[in-house]
Amino acid sequence: MEIKTFYDPRTFTLTYVVYDADSKDAVVVDPVLDYDPSSSKTWTESSDRVIKFINNKKLRVHYVLETHAHADHLSGAQRFKEACPRVKLAIGTRITDVQKVFKGIFDLPESFPTDGSQFDILLEDKSIVDAGTLKVETIFTPGHTPACVTYKIGDAIFTGDAIFMPDVGTGRCDFPGGSARDLYASITKRIYTLPDETRMFVGHDYQPGDRELAYETTVGQSKKSNVALDGRISEENFVAFREKRDASLNAPKLLFQSVQVNVAGGRLPEPHANNIRYMMIPLNAFKPEADSPVEALEHCGPRAQHKETEGMLSSSMVNP
Ligand SMILES: [Fe+2]
Repeated sequence: MEIKTFYDPRTFTLTYVVYDADSKDAVVVDPVLDYDPSSSKTWTESSDRVIKFINNKKLRVHYVLETHAHADHLSGAQRFKEACPRVKLAIGTRITDVQKVFKGIFDLPESFPTDGSQFDILLEDKSIVDAGTLKVETIFTPGHTPACVTYKIGDAIFTGDAIFMPDVGTGRCDFPGGSARDLYASITKRIYTLPDETRMFVGHDYQPGDRELAYETTVGQSKKSNVALDGRISEENFVAFREKRDASLNAPKLLFQSVQVNVAGGRLPEPHANNIRYMMIPLNAFKPEADSPVEALEHCGPRAQHKETEGMLSSSMVNP
């Protein structure tokens, strides 16, 4: 089994192509749709690079696998569906919980389905799907979001935003439905119980201290040295650390743009009658402005006029 990695430096996202060099069977994990928020422009360079690699290697893509509804980049999944409609888009079945929450936040129309039908296949915990000769096992790893999953293919796992490189730590847990306690359980009971030599591929790398890009570690290495959650930290200490840290973080730059596209399977909003698509950006949805009373202006409106002037004005108006 081979793994080819692609890195998007704008969003620090890692996309993986996992393939069998003999059978040519392949899956794609977490592809990116490029998006520039200042010009609100999308383009497809990142996914097209992956497609070119796949075609150069003559691979047969079975699935695009999403580890979760990302909040920091738009999914490139639909580019793969455009390139070949037989490619199946898969995500954990608890995406329906995330759809329900964000349907409310974005005030989406009644017609927006929250049954996951924007995806081709909803994966259950511990299910195994065949991608030709590759077997893809889904392991639910909620905490960063309630719908997060880790994919296990051969001796490798793809953890999305549950856990990062040892010097980066773990994903944040303050999105709707997120839970530091759930993440602790996911990592300690579901990831750290895998064999130590299991290769671990992370969903982002933020290159702390300007170090070289790194995206592959092992379960054993992470247990030994993950700065946020090694194999020794107690649940209480992790939860206290994570919640304090999350309270100090700003929302991801592309939070609203990403989530509204990603809960719809990476589909952009439908164009309006003028053929332009619009993103929805709610105001104060998560951190409402404090309801503080306004300080009254002591002086406002026209100046109070002098009585004599008033008399002059009125007489000149009466007798022009
Ligand atoms: Fe994420």
